Amino acid sequence: MLRSGRPDGPQLKTAEEMAGMRKAGHLVAGALRLSHSMATVGTKLEDIDRAVETFFRDHGAEPLFKGYPGKVPYPGSTCLSLNDQVVHGLPSTRQLIEGDLLKVDTACRLDGWCADAAITVGVGAISSAKERLRLVACEVLELAILEIAIQLKKRGNWSEVAGKMQLRAESAGYRMVTQYVGHGIGRAMHEPPQVPNYVDRQTKRSDFRLEPGLVLAVEPMLNMGDSSTKVLRDHWTVVTRDGLSSAHVEHTLGLTDQGVWVLTADQKDERIVSV
Ligand code: MF3
Ligand code: CO
Repeated sequence: MLRSGRPDGPQLKTAEEMAGMRKAGHLVAGALRLSHSMATVGTKLEDIDRAVETFFRDHGAEPLFKGYPGKVPYPGSTCLSLNDQVVHGLPSTRQLIEGDLLKVDTACRLDGWCADAAITVGVGAISSAKERLRLVACEVLELAILEIAIQLKKRGNWSEVAGKMQLRAESAGYRMVTQYVGHGIGRAMHEPPQVPNYVDRQTKRSDFRLEPGLVLAVEPMLNMGDSSTKVLRDHWTVVTRDGLSSAHVEHTLGLTDQGVWVLTADQKDERIVSV
């Protein structure tokens, strides 16, 4: 979500509430698996969007992006962002071509509980530069999960995690997007706190302590070149200013006494990461 001013305090969730979010998370993981399987040469973006919407509705869930308020309501159930598009790319008649770097982001609500996740996928054979960017983005998210587990035990602050994420991205030669951040999530898709992927004086001021009951959508966005972005005339699509590629991955993470519960993991790789 777009970074904004004065944040509120977070709302904590019980284990039962997180279990409800896990059910929504299963569906989001299923929708992303479906999208991944469709991400081949010739597929139209709008076909992926329609398949995801149908998948959610068939499972009794509500797609959360559809109609999301903005200058114009968000038209799809997914954000499908290609290459230099960072996030919020619109489903269109554009067909996938060999070498595209596709980011699929989606969220649903099931029985009142939300989950939100994103993947970055290569279409056919992609350049080694794009593949490296994709891998580092995945690595940054994995590192964040592990570091949350470490800091949760110490009751450390989010900025400790964000600092590690930024360092890993920058050590690999990339830049973290700062205009968009992760977020708390629960009954609503966007809840406090804001969850930045970098550290500066401003993020330090709105830092928060990691504690059981928090549920965070962590979503690093890494740019191959400069960190700056702009929004296209469609009022949604966020692109890099320099035209270089970007990668984005996201999981909804539940912080528990047992460790970090990956609420949007696929059913087959159920995991609670602890140290
Ligand atoms: N995961 C993104 C976010 O949290 C996607 C939002 S798309 C929108 O901001 F359509 F809902 F805006
Ligand atoms: Co999100």
